[in-house]
Amino acid sequence: MEFNFKGRDIINGYDFTTQELCHIMDTAMIYEKRVKSGEAIKDCEGMLVATLFFEPSTRTRLSFNSAIQRVGASTIDLGNASVSSQAKGETWQDTLRTVDGYVDAIVMRHPQDGSAIEAAEIAQHPLINGGDGKRQHPTQALLDIYTIRKELGHIGGQTITFLGDLKYGRTVHSLGYFMQQFGNKMIFASPDELKMPEDITKDLRSKGADITETSDVREALRQSDLVYVTRVQRERFPDEESYLRCKGSYILDRKMVMETNPNITIMHPLPRVDEIATDVDTLPGAAYFRQAHNGMYLRMALLGLVTGRI
Ligand code: NCD
Repeated sequence: MEFNFKGRDIINGYDFTTQELCHIMDTAMIYEKRVKSGEAIKDCEGMLVATLFFEPSTRTRLSFNSAIQRVGASTIDLGNASVSSQAKGETWQDTLRTVDGYVDAIVMRHPQDGSAIEAAEIAQHPLINGGDGKRQHPTQALLDIYTIRKELGHIGGQTITFLGDLKYGRTVHSLGYFMQQFGNKMIFASPDELKMPEDITKDLRSKGADITETSDVREALRQSDLVYVTRVQRERFPDEESYLRCKGSYILDRKMVMETNPNITIMHPLPRVDEIATDVDTLPGAAYFRQAHNGMYLRMALLGLVTGRI
């Protein structure tokens, strides 16, 4: 099958065919093998990629910066907004327009919902969404499905629990679409205040997704092959009071895993605050640091594909 990713923007979790998702994962797998064999990869030699993060990031920024260099490209980074022209009052749109003239592709994260869509319209070069507000985070969801396939041996026909802040957590907003595409059953387990937005649940169901919503975490764990935990997204709450009401309302610890489903695979996009106790980390199913590591290969694949070099 022929795929055409060259020049493409990566904006939403619902923009891919299932064949494209498989092709991206296969490409990541090849990059993983090439990196592990010690090859000095030059696929994107001579290219320059910008990382513009208008919101805090550790993994997404660093794994993109690693991936950019690992495919043989060079990178420029906006750095801390307080030392760039942002501090002088420049709009992010103007910053983006300027940087677009320097580089071959752009990775951008911004706190505003929908900023990635606007950015893709402004930029002439491929725009990769590294998270736009509470809306979408497609590259995280791509590395998540790559991880699910590696951890469970295949993807499809499984039951996945999403546990946590499903309202503001953008990673599950993207991942839900991939789960639907692969025919995975989903259980949404969250405090009432942090339920998956109704428009997303409705949209997923209209596409045929099998979704159960519950607040019974133990029962959800018993029924699942995998649990995907998210942190309470403090920075997106309207006020501190509503955050405090939700803080600590779900915590996965070793005892709970052992009592409900000792073989369950556990994922988390990170950063973790307190929603997974550290005594879970040594369980064989605790996959979240392997998941973060997979992000680099997946992002190498995306860069190779959108620049048309592979
Ligand atoms: C996630 C994000 O930024 O949405 N982090 C990440 O990219 N790995 C999840 C989070 O911040 O909780």
